[in-house]
Amino acid sequence: MLSHCFDVFWEALSLQVFLVFFATFLLIADYMKRRHPKDFPPGPVPLPFLGNLLHLDIRKPQLSVQKLAEKYGNVFSFQLGNIPIVVVNGPQLVKEALIHQGENFLDRPKLPILYDRFQTFGLIFSNGVSWKQQRRFALSTLRNFGLGKKSLEERIQEESRFLTDAIEEKKGKPFDPHFLINNAVSNVICSITFGNRFDYRDSQFQELLHLIDEAGKMQESIACQLYNICPAVMKHVPGPHKTGFKNWEYLKSFVSKIIEKHQEDRNPHEARDFIDAYLNEIAKEDASSSFHKENLLQSTLDLFFAGTETTSTTLRWALLYMAMYPEIQGRVQAEIDSVIGQSRQPGIADRDSMPYTNAVIHEIQRISNILPLTLPRVTTIDTRLAGFHVPKGTILVPNLTSVLFDKDEWETPNKFNPGHFLKNDQFKKKEAFIPFSAGKRGCLGEQLARMELFLFFTALIQKFTFQAPKDVKLSLDFKISHTMSPKPYHIRAFSR
Ligand code: HEM
Ligand SMILES: *[C@@H]1O[C@H](CO)[C@@H](O)[C@H](O)[C@H]1NC(C)=O
Repeated sequence: MLSHCFDVFWEALSLQVFLVFFATFLLIADYMKRRHPKDFPPGPVPLPFLGNLLHLDIRKPQLSVQKLAEKYGNVFSFQLGNIPIVVVNGPQLVKEALIHQGENFLDRPKLPILYDRFQTFGLIFSNGVSWKQQRRFALSTLRNFGLGKKSLEERIQEESRFLTDAIEEKKGKPFDPHFLINNAVSNVICSITFGNRFDYRDSQFQELLHLIDEAGKMQESIACQLYNICPAVMKHVPGPHKTGFKNWEYLKSFVSKIIEKHQEDRNPHEARDFIDAYLNEIAKEDASSSFHKENLLQSTLDLFFAGTETTSTTLRWALLYMAMYPEIQGRVQAEIDSVIGQSRQPGIADRDSMPYTNAVIHEIQRISNILPLTLPRVTTIDTRLAGFHVPKGTILVPNLTSVLFDKDEWETPNKFNPGHFLKNDQFKKKEAFIPFSAGKRGCLGEQLARMELFLFFTALIQKFTFQAPKDVKLSLDFKISHTMSPKPYHIRAFSR
């Protein structure tokens, strides 16, 4: 009996000893792995397993590294679990990384939260030859549809009419413009990629837009950060990341069905849209090409997603700013009245004769700063930045806020001021205006987005005056979703 107890005691003890040894070993192994190379950008000391997770503000992980910038300077590092991340601040260094050393910082990282949704297909998260081929094809196809039967300009003008008609129906009563604008902007991309638009009352499409919006909630959650650190565990834990994944699958199956339909009824001699053009590319059967079903699906999804959220968020900020700055809205209307009048729709050729409106749109993009940390990059080779050593495979986060709000570049960085883009009443370009990021991997849709912003915005301000609902004080508070977007609001649109 006694000897039995003794045995159990020894067994337990040795198990304990073993566990302690094992844990110590893991910690040391983990520490060795995370030890930074010489000259690595400075940063806080990471904890085993968690890295600097505890340095992040649980509610606003994207913004919370802020304090680190104050402490460590323009280039600093922190760790998400085992993943070292380098943050770059300031116009000069951000441009050094994105433009002058563009080739060295060209790739996207394979963070689990991204990888498990996008793999390495498509446009946004692909790398290497596949990325190059997909990007070139998407750019030239977007351009071709601008030359085709119905130009991009006409598609956007047509959609602006639907949008202003729908807002007219509100008859000056307060309404939430979120999903109307979302639908309108999305229709431009749908018309290019799928060949058709969706009616604002189409309940299936509205549901899809709501699901995408809901998926944005995962972005602000700590669950996402944890997912990057231990995906194997988090896959089984409920939370906003699970909803995000589920909604993403729904969107995928929606687009898959549209692709199947195209395969059935397409005419190889006459491409109607992006999907038709892509199917022609697949039919060429070039073994070395990256044109296959998975890339078709993901590139289409990427255009749809990237092309909807960003532009529509910017337009929602635009209406808020107009309602909050009535004198500025009035000056835009005066310019519209003198250059365009009320009898015709705005066209893209009007932009050059409308410096004030153009400046207002730029200032809205600057101050709304919808992608403050843009999208992450990863180094393709060992390189140096600001004298620091940045090894191949290091994640780089360019801080666009530090450029769009730089004290030396902007007279009143924190104040809405279209004067930032004007000189002697003429439009003035600014080097530090980089809401689309910059360089070879900068936003693929920049041209399209700028066209959409000008045509939609001008059409809306031509037809309406936007105002806060009676006794309501509008707020510029933001929430973090796919982008930094305004908190839901109601607004009134009075016909002019
Ligand atoms: C106001 C509107 C928009 C803003 C502020 C914006 C901003 C951005 C930013 C900051 C990036 C990251 C670029 C980088 O890593 O350097 C990006 C990438 C991208 N954007 Fe946009 N974007 C907008 C509209 C659009 C539109 C309309 C499209 C659709 C055609 C689009 C398609 C893309 C794609 C496909 C990428 C990934 C490019 C790549 O990885 O090669 N964007 N965008
Ligand atoms: C980005 O830049 C802004 C403005 O300079 C700064 O307040 C913020 O802390 C920076 N964020 C990071 C992550 O470095």
